[in-house]
Amino acid sequence: MGQVHVLEHPLIQHKLTIMRSKDTPTKEFRELVQEVAMLMAYEITRDLPLAPIAIETPVAPTVAKVIHGKTLAIVPVLRAGLGMADGILQLIPNAKVGHVGLYRDPETLEPVEYYCKLPQQMDLREVIVVDPMLATGGSASAAIEAVKRRGSTSVKLMCLVSAPDGIARVQRDHPDVDIYVASIDERLNDHGYIVPGLGDAGDRLYGTK
Ligand code: PRP
Ligand code: URA
Repeated sequence: MGQVHVLEHPLIQHKLTIMRSKDTPTKEFRELVQEVAMLMAYEITRDLPLAPIAIETPVAPTVAKVIHGKTLAIVPVLRAGLGMADGILQLIPNAKVGHVGLYRDPETLEPVEYYCKLPQQMDLREVIVVDPMLATGGSASAAIEAVKRRGSTSVKLMCLVSAPDGIARVQRDHPDVDIYVASIDERLNDHGYIVPGLGDAGDRLYGTK
């Protein structure tokens, strides 16, 4: 069973609280999504392997550490995941980026895939699927399925706000995937929105309704 990690860092929690407020405008919300995603990526990449290389400083030759092994691919779920990918790329600018386009049918709440473009050699990459909201879990599960179809065997899921249902769904469908969230909220409402949540993440990011 994949592990669930709730990232309790005070900066993450403080910024998430500002995002949740209905009075936070689009510009600030967008900046906060990027900042929180960057902070979460810092935590998630703690276990990246390091290898020694020989370099010369201006003072002396030495052996120092660099990240080694599988290269990263960030896969935002369109559209709201884009805001998170921008934040992660500020920290890891060399990461490749794939896109999975999904929307949630408002009646059935089931995800509908409309786009999928992923980097080459997905089987050789550490993949981080990013989406701010993990509600029923249908979208995240479908996005993970899409990257696995292309050969990925090492996948993590990173979301800002989650509901217990969404976590259970991803754990059931993808028991090999670790889940990283900033919060596990109480529940879903009758429309599949996370309570208390932060509303519709895509609309809040892009100022749509
Ligand atoms: C939102 C969100 C997730 C999905 C979560 O996207 O960004 O992708 O809902 O819900 P689920 O866990 O029940 O699948 P939405 O369908 O609103 O599309 P958008 O990003 O284009 O606004
Ligand atoms: N999608 C969102 O954007 N917000 C929710 O609360 C649930 C799904």
